Parts: sequence; C-alpha cells; structure tokens
Amino acid sequence: MNDVDTTPVIEVTDLVRVFGKRTVLNGVSFKIHRGETMVIMGGSGCGKSTLLRHIIGAMKPTSGSIKIFGEDITHMDERELASIRRRFGMLFQSGALLASMTVGENVALPISEHSQLSDDDVDQIVKRKLQMVGLTGFEHLKPAEISGGMKKRVGLARALALDPELLFSDEPTSGLDPIMTAVVDKLTLELTRESGMTALVVTHDMTSAFRIASNMIMLGRGSIIAQGTPAEIRSSPNPEVQQFINGEADGPVPLNLSQDDHEHRQHVAPRPLISARGRLSRKMP
Ligand SMILES: Nc1ncnc2c1ncn2[C@@H]1O[C@H](COP(=O)(O)OP(=O)(O)O)[C@@H](O)[C@H]1O
Ligand SMILES: [Mg+2]
Repeated sequence: MNDVDTTPVIEVTDLVRVFGKRTVLNGVSFKIHRGETMVIMGGSGCGKSTLLRHIIGAMKPTSGSIKIFGEDITHMDERELASIRRRFGMLFQSGALLASMTVGENVALPISEHSQLSDDDVDQIVKRKLQMVGLTGFEHLKPAEISGGMKKRVGLARALALDPELLFSDEPTSGLDPIMTAVVDKLTLELTRESGMTALVVTHDMTSAFRIASNMIMLGRGSIIAQGTPAEIRSSPNPEVQQFINGEADGPVPLNLSQDDHEHRQHVAPRPLISARGRLSRKMP
C-alpha cells in the first residue's frame, strides 16, 4: 500500500458544468493531498458551492472527472457513493439542520446511521463533538432556538461526528463573531495537522482563509484565476486577486448576484449595496 500516501485525496480534472446556457464551472482542475487545507475563494455566484456539490457527488458534471480517495466518483450512483460519503464530513452553507430534531439528535444522526454503537456511546460522541465547537450543554435545544452562528457550529459538530478523513465546509465562519471564527479555525488546523484530516473550505472570510490554508484557489466566473500557497496568493500580480483579498469596492471583479446572496440574505448578511455605477460594494471580510 505504498502508493496510498501519494494518491491525492481529491483530484478534479477539467470539470465543466453548464446550467441552461450558462457555463458555471469552466474547466476546473486541481489536486488536494492528505493533511492539506485547500481554501476556495471568490465572489458570490462564481461557482464555489456548485464546485463543492460536484465534488461530493451531489451534482453530476457536464464533462470532466472527480476522484476522491483515488476512486472515480464521477458516474457513481447513490449506493456506490454511500461508502465514500461515510469517510467524509460536510458542513453545508446554511448549516442544513433538521428543524424537528434537537441539536444533539442532529449531531447523532450520521453516527446512528453509519454505526451500531449503543445510545450511551452515541451520547458520549455527541457531547465530545459539541464541546469541540464550544456548544456544551446545548444538546436539548431545537435549531429554531439557537443563533445562526450556533447552527453553523452544530453543523460542524455533525460533519465531524464520524471523525472524517476529509472535511468539506461551505462558508464555515460566516455569521460567527471573530472569537468563534478563531475557535473554528483552530479546530480545523488541529484536525489537519494532528490527525491528518484533509479539508476543503469555501470562504470569503479572508482572515480565516489565510489562517487555515495550505493552498488556495481563487475562482472567477467558473475558472481558476489564481492558485498557490497563501504567500503566492498574497503577492499575486493579478488585480482581481488583490481586489478580492483586500476587500476593495472598485476593481475588475464583476457584479454577480447568486443564490448565495439569497441564502445569506435570509440568514445574516445585509444586502450588498449596488452603487449608481453598478459596482458591488463588497461586504468587508
Ligand atoms: N441548480 C442550479 N440551476 C441553475 N443555476 C444554478 C444552479 N446552482 C447554481 N446555479 C448558478 O450557478 C452560479 C454559481 O452559484 P454558486 O455555486 O452557488 O455560487 P457561489 O457559491 O460561488 O456563490 C450562480 O449563478 C447560480 O445561480
Ligand atoms: Mg456558495
């Protein structure tokens, strides 16, 4: 099993996705190796969540391929995907908690689904995972009774419930205050550095991005416009990259509203302001 260590955990090759007439992903290719944290950034609507949905097998590409743990999942059906999904955790952008269940039951869900542990053992794991995200004592509340940032952290506890080898997070720190953002970032760093977990994190929180990334990709209109280490991205000569990482209102990044904005509007963020010149005043990172 010598080659296992060098096989990328994720390998995306020439991924293209067209919705109607719009090409939302346009030839995206990259690899992520074990223990790395890849941060994907880019403006709202550039295709980040769509890319994530393809990588977890929830959407099928128009063309191109996706390998996870060396297995080509591009054409896998739900039954085949189930055994791969057992090995990764996913934190959705909205948290995606089941409203009728308590916080504890939400975190327990993947554990009881994928293991034969006793109720007591499941309870112990739930307690430990909630403690990791700073939510000890909240297990009996319903999602409607906690804040948006807390929902995010419950979603993270649930994503980590089965000690995944690979974690996907879509905007894990949006709606969190700076201290909770630091707690979540520290947890990601510990899990990747100490347990060898691999992480793919979508974010437009630049503080968080530079804190956790070992590699970064900036997406723009469905293509990779920059890729490299945090230092390489910071010194990128590309004006779009500089505009983005410095959170400047004016620059080459086009105005582009998406689903993402709608999701955000419902939860936390204020509407983006559109100036008379039609430019987007960015939410500050
Ligand atoms: N199921 C879908 N059908 C049609 N268009 C979609 C669908 N999902 C996403 N899109 C479009 O793809 C673009 C990228 O969306 P998304 O990946 O959510 O962006 P991001 O996460 O980067 O903000 C948006 O313009 C969005 O409207
Ligand atoms: Mg998104």
